[in-house]
Amino acid sequence: MSLGSTAVAPPRPGVSPRRPGLAATSPFLRAAAGDRPDSVPVWFMRQAGRVLPEYRALRATTAMLDSCRNADMVTEITLQPVRRFRPDAAIFFSDIVLPLAAVGVDVDIVAGVGPVVAHPVRAPSDLDVLRPLEPGDVPYVSEAVASLVRELGQTPLIGFAGAPFTLASYLIEGGPSRSHTRTKALMYAEPALWHDLLGRLADITAAFLRVQVDAGADAIQLFDSWAGALSEDDYLRYVAPHSTRVLAAFADDGIPRIHFGVNTGELLGAMGAAGADVVGVDWRVPLDEAARRVGPGRAVQGNLDPAAVFAPSDVLAAKVRDVCRRGAAAPGHIFNFGHGVLPESDPGVLAHIVDLVHQF
Ligand code: CP3
Repeated sequence: MSLGSTAVAPPRPGVSPRRPGLAATSPFLRAAAGDRPDSVPVWFMRQAGRVLPEYRALRATTAMLDSCRNADMVTEITLQPVRRFRPDAAIFFSDIVLPLAAVGVDVDIVAGVGPVVAHPVRAPSDLDVLRPLEPGDVPYVSEAVASLVRELGQTPLIGFAGAPFTLASYLIEGGPSRSHTRTKALMYAEPALWHDLLGRLADITAAFLRVQVDAGADAIQLFDSWAGALSEDDYLRYVAPHSTRVLAAFADDGIPRIHFGVNTGELLGAMGAAGADVVGVDWRVPLDEAARRVGPGRAVQGNLDPAAVFAPSDVLAAKVRDVCRRGAAAPGHIFNFGHGVLPESDPGVLAHIVDLVHQF
């Protein structure tokens, strides 16, 4: 595995030291490196926020992006699911559009809708706003990561960002989209503009991840949530070079790079080859088959259907067992849902799933 020989990166100036020994003891980091810890590690995408009453209470009077800009709130919201569920990793509380807002894009998160962009990208001049992100644009991110690393003890922290394609989709469509029609139209009709846009987004994404890693994040996840809208051919031509550049920027940091998208059954090999140590898999492809598609030398993460939390407990337990059994076909397996926790999920059932996975 690529991580094996570089488990400890040389310290960078001004960079928080990683917690000593964590790579050898954390089940999450060991599985990401292609090892088999005593119990299967588990965390949930979108575990921070969404389902917890204590999150809703804290957020009640603060807009989503404002809460991401408040280091104390970010720290508290990131820790809430760790206290409740005892997962094997924490995910930093933020959003994929935060770095876009930080460089000056007029984007907001509308409750119940998602990101909404005031001036969608239609012409070359619309790219001018996408300047490089500087660490000083997101001081609250470094501050929150540093305080989390102190608070989390032996639980690793996952930093994250949106991948260039998924960010481009929000910028071009102006909001959430089912078909990504305008995005694809621009991609096919104006390849030069397209690659300029994705190149700028790759720079912003890599810079946003760099802030998190330099402040002490123990792993990164690149969310290309909507990449599954593309054929493999189009993904390789229009998207993979940019995501590859983002992931390559962390090749020497000695931390696992997780690459995830929804509906990406046909892209699993390409998403691994883009430079991932771990490939996230949605619930549509069983993990043993996913491991075959990803190929040797990479771990997999996933892939319980998030709706399984509504199943009777014996059905749920059988599904959890099946995911663990099939995950054993990969060099390493991190248990997760196949997409984010559904907002209606019962927190008690999520805690129960953590216990089931650990017992298995
Ligand atoms: O795991 C975590 O909960 C950490 C925080 C996190 C958020 N967004 C907070 C958030 C993470 C990892 C994300 C990633 C994200 N954001 C993705 C990739 C993951 C995925 O689900 O595919 C995407 C596509 C977005 C964009 C986005 N932000 C959408 C589509 C939405 C609306 C849907 C929703 O989740 O409610 C948001 C808003 C958002 N991001 C909320 C939270 C807690 C809800 C804000 C609110 O309470 O109104």
